[in-house]
Parts: sequence; C-alpha cells; structure tokens
Amino acid sequence: MKKGYLKIDPWEIIEEDFDPKKVKASESIFSLGNGAMGQRANFEEEYSGDTFQGSYIGGVYYPDKTKVGWWKNGYPEYFAKVINAPNWIGIHIKIGGHKLDLNKCKDVKNFKRVLNMKTGIYTRSFEVQISNDYRIAVEIRRFLSMAQGELGAIKYKIKALEGSPEIIFDSFIDGNIKNQDSNWEDPFWSHKNHCISDELILLHSQTLKTEFDIATYAQSKLLDEHGNSIGSLEKYEKENRISQVIKYKLDEGSSCTLIKFGGYINALNHLCSEFNNIAKELVTQSHQKGFDLLAEEHSYEWNKIWDQSDIQIKGDDKAQQGIRFNIFQLNQTYNGHDSRLNIGPKGFTGEKYGGSTYWDTEAYCLPFYMATKDQNVARNLLKYRYEQLDKAIENASKLGFNNGAALYPMVTMNGEECHNEWEITFEEIHRNGAIAFAIFNYERYTGDTNYIPEMGIEVLIAITRFWIQRVNYSEEKKAYVMLGVTGPNEYENNINNNWYTNYIAKWCIEYTLKEINKVKKFNTKRWKIIIRKIDWDDKELDLWNDVVKKIYLPKHPEKDIYLQQDGFLDKEFHPASILKDEERPINQNWSWDRILRSPFIKQADVLQGFYLFEDHFNKKMLEQHFDFYEPLTVHESSLSPCIHSILASRLGRTEQAYSFYLRTSRLDLDDYNKEVDEGLHITSMAGTWMSVVEGFGGVRVLKNQLHIDPILPNSWNEFSFRINFRNTLVKVVVNKNEIDISYSNPDLIVYCKGEKIII
Ligand code: BGC
Repeated sequence: MKKGYLKIDPWEIIEEDFDPKKVKASESIFSLGNGAMGQRANFEEEYSGDTFQGSYIGGVYYPDKTKVGWWKNGYPEYFAKVINAPNWIGIHIKIGGHKLDLNKCKDVKNFKRVLNMKTGIYTRSFEVQISNDYRIAVEIRRFLSMAQGELGAIKYKIKALEGSPEIIFDSFIDGNIKNQDSNWEDPFWSHKNHCISDELILLHSQTLKTEFDIATYAQSKLLDEHGNSIGSLEKYEKENRISQVIKYKLDEGSSCTLIKFGGYINALNHLCSEFNNIAKELVTQSHQKGFDLLAEEHSYEWNKIWDQSDIQIKGDDKAQQGIRFNIFQLNQTYNGHDSRLNIGPKGFTGEKYGGSTYWDTEAYCLPFYMATKDQNVARNLLKYRYEQLDKAIENASKLGFNNGAALYPMVTMNGEECHNEWEITFEEIHRNGAIAFAIFNYERYTGDTNYIPEMGIEVLIAITRFWIQRVNYSEEKKAYVMLGVTGPNEYENNINNNWYTNYIAKWCIEYTLKEINKVKKFNTKRWKIIIRKIDWDDKELDLWNDVVKKIYLPKHPEKDIYLQQDGFLDKEFHPASILKDEERPINQNWSWDRILRSPFIKQADVLQGFYLFEDHFNKKMLEQHFDFYEPLTVHESSLSPCIHSILASRLGRTEQAYSFYLRTSRLDLDDYNKEVDEGLHITSMAGTWMSVVEGFGGVRVLKNQLHIDPILPNSWNEFSFRINFRNTLVKVVVNKNEIDISYSNPDLIVYCKGEKIII
C-alpha cells in the first residue's frame, strides 16, 4: 500500500476513490468503538472482494487451545482470543434483481469514506451503475453510541439516479462467523436461541468453554424522504442467520433510507432472561428518537471527551490529524467505566495479539488515561491487576516460585497467562516491573496515597518476592545476576543480565522497601491485616537489601554506557541505516536466526529504562546512551518511536523528536510497519500522546509538583494541550512568542521552565 492515500485534514480521516486493494487497510483505519464494543469498518452490503470481518465485544473471549511444536512445562493451556462476534451490521441489497457488491460493480464513482473524529460519525458514499437500467447513489452513516454502550446505529440511504428499481434490503444478524486466527479451526460460539418478529431480531449465543452469554440484536425500518415508514416486511431464519427483508419500489429521482439499530447485550452486565426485553426497549426507544437525535447525543459525548483531552497543533495539519486520530482511537477502545476491561494492543480493530492486556497498559496507556480522564479511570487500571494478583501468584508457582511471589502474565484476559512462546512467556519478565512502576507513577501523578495501603502494597511485595527468587548469586561476579531473560527488545532472546530488567527489578525492590515502611508507619492497622494475609516475616528484608546492593548491571568496559545485556559488545555493529528499504521491516524479511545475531534492536530497551527513570541519570548520560543505541534501533515495535521522541525532546533535539513524533502519530495512517490491514496499534497511540505532552510539552511531576518545560517544533506555529492534574484542568498553549498556562485552582503549584508560576 502506498503511503498517504488518505487526505490530510485536522478533524477528519478521508479516503477518496474506491480501490479494492485498500479495503482491508481502510477497514482498520475507519474502525468504530465505544469502550463496550467495536467493529472494523466492514461494508454493510455484500462484498465478495478481500475483506477482514470483525466485530468485537469488550471482555468476551475464547480460550483457544495452545498449539506449539514442542510442549514445555509451564506453557499455558490456551491463548485467549478476542473473538469475532455475530455480525449485526449486515444489509445485503438487491437493486432491480442485481446484487449490490462493489467488488463486482464496474462503475463505482465518487467513492468516499469520512471519519469525523469530532462527532464520532463515520460516513461512506458512492455512486454505482447497477445495470444498463439502474444507477444509484448511496450514503451510509454509522456510529457506536458513546452515550449508550449497547447501541449501534446505521442510516443507509439509496437514491435512484436512473430507473425505478425495486429495492430489497436484507437486513440481518449472522451467527456464522469465524476468527481468521484460530489454532484448531474450532467454532468459538454456540447459538442457543433466537427471536424474530416485526419489532426485533435477536440471536442469543454463548462462547464455547468460557460460556459468555451475549445477545446480538437489531431492528430495521425503511423510511421515505419525509420520514414515513414504507416497504413490505418479511422475516427469514436459516442456520443462525436471521433477517428482516424490506422491499420497496423506488421512483427515479427519489430516495429511501433504511435505519438499523443494533448491537450486543452482554451477560457480564445483565441476566440472560432480560436480553429480549432490554433489546426491545432499546430498539423501540431508538426508533422513536430517530437516528439524528441519537447521533447528536453521541456527538455530545465526544464533545465532552475533546473538551478534556484535545491537542491542537497549528501550522501542521499532518501532525494535527495524527494526534487526534490517536486520541480518538484510545477513547473508542477504553473508557475506564469497568475495571474488568482493559486495553488490547489492537483494541477492537483486529484479532492479532489475542488477549487484552500486555505491559503496554502500564508502561504506555496509564499516563494518557491518568491525564485525560477522571482519576478513577487510572485507579481501575491498577485495580484490574490487583484483582488478578492471586492468578499471578499461581502463575509464578506453576513455574516453581513460592512464598507468594507473583509473575503477572505477558498476555491475559482474566489474569491467567495465555502467551505461549517460551522466550516471552517465561523470559519477558520485565512486565512485572512495569506493573510496579505504574503504581509509583499513579501515586506520583494523582496524589492518591490511599491506593498503596489499600491494594498496591500487596502487588509490590508479591512482585518483589518474584525478583528475589529470580536472581541468583554469581560467585564469579560477586553479584546477583538474572539469567535467561528477554528484555523489551524481543530481537534478543534468552540473554543474561538484561540491563533494563535488572535495573527495574532493583528499583522495584527499593521502592517496595520504602512503601512497606510507610504503610507500617501510617497504616499500622492495615499492615497488621496484610502481614497475616501474605504470611510476612521481616526477616525477608535482609535478602532484599542484599540484592539491592549487589545486583549486577552490565557496563561497557571503557565507556560510561550500560550494556543491553552480557556479551552485547560481541556483536558486529552496523547502524540500522545500512538496511535497504526492501529488507524492512526485518521481521518480515529476515530469518529469525539472522535477526537474533544482528545488532539491531526492535524497540527501546536500555532507553526504555532511561525514559522511566529519567531523573536517575543526567543529560550527558542520556545523550551517550541515546547516541549509542538509537542508531541500532529499527523501531519495529509500534512502542518504540514515541519513547525516542520523548528522549530526543529532553535532549533538545527538536527536529529528531518531531520526526519520531510523525512516525508514531501516523504509524497507522501512513502504515509505516506495513501491517495496518491487521488492525490498528492502539496501545502505542498512548505513546504518541506522551510524545506531545511529556516530550514537546515537557510535563513532569517532580517532588510532588507539576513541571511544564515545553519546546516547539520548527514546523508548528503553536500547540496546546490539556491535562487533568489532581482534579484541576490545566491548559497549556505554546507558540513562538509565549507559553500560556491556565488553571482555576489557586492552590495548585505549577513550575514552568523551572520557575514557580505566580498567579
Ligand atoms: C512488542 C511488545 C508489546 C507487544 C504488544 C510487541 O511487538 O515488542 O513490547 O507488548 O507487541 O503491543
């Protein structure tokens, strides 16, 4: 796919002209979601060309039995998959006896898709010659309501440009859906029963094994140009496909509009016995209100979101479109209302990555939700892990750890590990560190000192117990070492002493020691309860202190540089710039063996540590490490450019920061990693936000106070952002002449470029 087939616009994503080769990419880009459910931008009408069908429900998954060549003890039984749910958007159409199928119709004109990010409404329009006699114009509007999580709406308008065809709308729910990604071709759903009437169609389905009950519902009405109900209705049912078929003869020059409301009702929130009533009420009320009013209510919710979180960039529409697209998609994926849900790397836009929660949530997403939403949203993200602590302890015990040590899963839905590549499942243990860091980051940012005694301390202790058992004392090095790990750079596996992992483990132990002392002192009663629960003995602390003192951190023998891992200097060094275009991404073009031996780094690894712990290192050290590692980095994880953008900003390298920013913010719009058809990179979108707010905006919390230290990229005239800091909305505008910071809480202390702001 060529870069840049989408038009640049500050508020809209626009595709013009129909190209079947771009259908799958656009299905990802124009995806819709509302936190509770989401769907790829599949066509409503039949499409026989290459397409990737996807409609997903938050929290509903299937445990697909693990498939590996060589089973290793400790592998999880299953890989939890976000699953394709019954299709409710389908509207197959016949015009004068001919199927409407853009893959087969020869003369498609004025094809256009527009995703309006301000209003959250997606529109698609085109004109098409159906036969010698009939030519029609079509306009479709669709949204998944931000006001009512279970409601989706479609307005499908057809105008007869030539001829007076009979139009047949076959508006259906189809339970015969599959996942593209399934290990054993198992069906994931069983369908229990259905309802089919003039007022409602509904299919009650249950996932196999996990037994999630959901109802897919829909109700369609055909309206004339004055909003009167028209057409004759028939109903059909065949093998889990239920439909309402409406026929109408359209006069030349006039139009008719099918309004379809639909979505999912989920047993996570309702009793199954209530499914029918809830759905009926929902469609009745929706048809009474009408599409336009519901669209207004939906857009009003978007308006509130933008009020809290918009970032404006003046003088650079490309950058502007990029950041809004990222903020838009993050809000479509997760709204923080339900602590059982989380943020999958692909959100509701594809199947890849299966389960929902990676370390991405803590390392990348938390800062975005912390600063753009109510504090409870970030607390819910932490609570999600607290509620899964028992499973993390069980997970570690399966691997031979004891004494309440916890290893959080690399990928999970419900707390159980479901990743099954040994080099990641067993070795990419740095994820534990990110979970501990998130607790620290949350308290630092929100000032909520209750979270740690209430929940966080148990998580910190369990993670620390894991580190203590995972290291071993090396007589040769006279230090504690950590063997057989994979760092954030997944292009190296089974290495010893990954600096990032050892460093975050050390930090975590020290931090937990400090927090234990605080809880003991200020929450004595609570501590007494905790020590009984976790079987605590202060004697444990001796070893903790020893490990902190003696943990091994690999270093360059001559330069003041930390080494990514033992033996890193044995590599044959070449900068990534020697790679030819056709070799990139190397993970699609090189053998794994060649990648492992190469010096190329997938994503920030040592530099990830320099990002999280920036105040542990001075600028000179950062500069040395950046100049050593960045040239070797191929940025083939979407999580990489944002970290480099923030670090480059910190170094004052504005233009380098800007080029990383463009890459992160337009990763999907410009398809840098040549895989957008599989879905969007949702979690790295939070990294894009960080590269503006923490990078160009220079936002930090230091010694319990908010610091803002902005820089302005050359091509921008102005940029502005908003953050919710400790329940106060702080607005920052930066242009070539001034920095304007406003907030309405006189007690809030803010520093700008190191100077305390005097109100
Ligand atoms: C990255 C991981 C990340 C995962 C999901 C991988 O490509 O290397 O760090 O957690 O994608 O985003």
